[in-house]
Amino acid sequence: MQKRISPVSSIAGNIVLPGDKSISHRYAMIAAIAEGATRIRNYSTGADCHSTLGCVQALGIEVEGAGTEFTIRGKGLDGLSAPARDLDAGNSGSTVRMLSGILAAQPFRSRIFGDESLSRRPMRRIMQPLAKMGARIQAREGKFPPLEIDGARLRAIHYDLPVASAQVKTCVLLAGLFAEGETSVGEPVRSRDHTEIALREFGAEVTSTAGKIAVQGRPQLEARELDVPSDLSSAAFFIAAALLVPGSRLAIRGVGLNPTRSALLDFLAGMGARIRIADLESRNGELVGEIVVEHAALRGGTIAGGLTAALIDEIPVLAVLGAATEEGITIRDASELRIKETDRIRTVVDNLRLMGVEAEELADGMAIPGRQRFHAARVDSHGDHRIAMAFAVAALRGDGETTIEGAEAASVSFPEFWDTLAGICEKRTDRSI
Ligand code: S3P
Repeated sequence: MQKRISPVSSIAGNIVLPGDKSISHRYAMIAAIAEGATRIRNYSTGADCHSTLGCVQALGIEVEGAGTEFTIRGKGLDGLSAPARDLDAGNSGSTVRMLSGILAAQPFRSRIFGDESLSRRPMRRIMQPLAKMGARIQAREGKFPPLEIDGARLRAIHYDLPVASAQVKTCVLLAGLFAEGETSVGEPVRSRDHTEIALREFGAEVTSTAGKIAVQGRPQLEARELDVPSDLSSAAFFIAAALLVPGSRLAIRGVGLNPTRSALLDFLAGMGARIRIADLESRNGELVGEIVVEHAALRGGTIAGGLTAALIDEIPVLAVLGAATEEGITIRDASELRIKETDRIRTVVDNLRLMGVEAEELADGMAIPGRQRFHAARVDSHGDHRIAMAFAVAALRGDGETTIEGAEAASVSFPEFWDTLAGICEKRTDRSI
């Protein structure tokens, strides 16, 4: 599918976005191994989170509902049954990596696979800690999906993550639920802590101190009523759009503002963005609030070290934004970007260049000089949702109509993206651009 985007005169509106992808995955997986019916509101509409629901159903768990409201009838820690078919994770790395922690502890064999992009994503990072726990996992070429998981009785371990990854941390903590005693994970930098918060909500004992997260095994997990906050990583595209287009003002309600995710807002504010937070509240242990953003000229800056890990999903759109700042944006320590849904260093740099924007590809990041203009072009998502949406934002400041090829990829996390975008764009009436 192609989308054609023309420049706009401003961005304006008051919007609500779909549920957080990271939190939705976790709620669905933990609900499946909790006792009783968990009701989830504002569940992510993205294809990735529906892949997780499909897998949970294939494991014998009843899932009722449609749209954004689901009831998952969990059967407790020992209630999953052997799947009659292979588990399809679609495009979702989170589904394979996190669910494997649960599958590794089952008294049956399962096989989990994904689409072409997922079949190229590294899985050794979860296979290693799970093997230490006693799991038996085979992978294509020893490292890629499909994974064949022969469930085993797992033992508790301590595992120091070699790379900051919330997916790997989650995988180990979920596996730890099935082992006797305490399983713990050490992280080099703090990653998103939705798993810790969700596990506590369901009644598990989780402690988190000085870079070490520990879960006690064999808890009694109890069904819950849960409300998923809107996804800050989806909001990032609209925040960037409002900052980029002069005269814009946008309010986004009910957004997840968990401090392990909200570095984006601090980073933008540090560059001069006008962002206000209102109506802060806690929902199921997660911080939620309204974001009000207005256009502002941004200074530019550097993303490196722990900040890179905290902004990892937002880097494509921050790179776009960087080209319009005063001093540009440099991104370092981001080699993880090369193993996301696409090599995001390459796909961002290539698409920026197609739009006439100077961008330097670095081994572990990119450097984008500031004060640049976006020229109308034909760009390609390469099947990556965040690339499709980031370049839709760039197109809003183009000098003509930009075509986004592979625009359907947005559905992986945000099927409503194109309609929401259309709803907040004030069209140019002058023909001077
Ligand atoms: C996620 C963690 C991050 C992120 C992904 C979602 C999660 O991946 O990029 O979109 O929900 O835990 P890594 O764990 O590979 O850093």
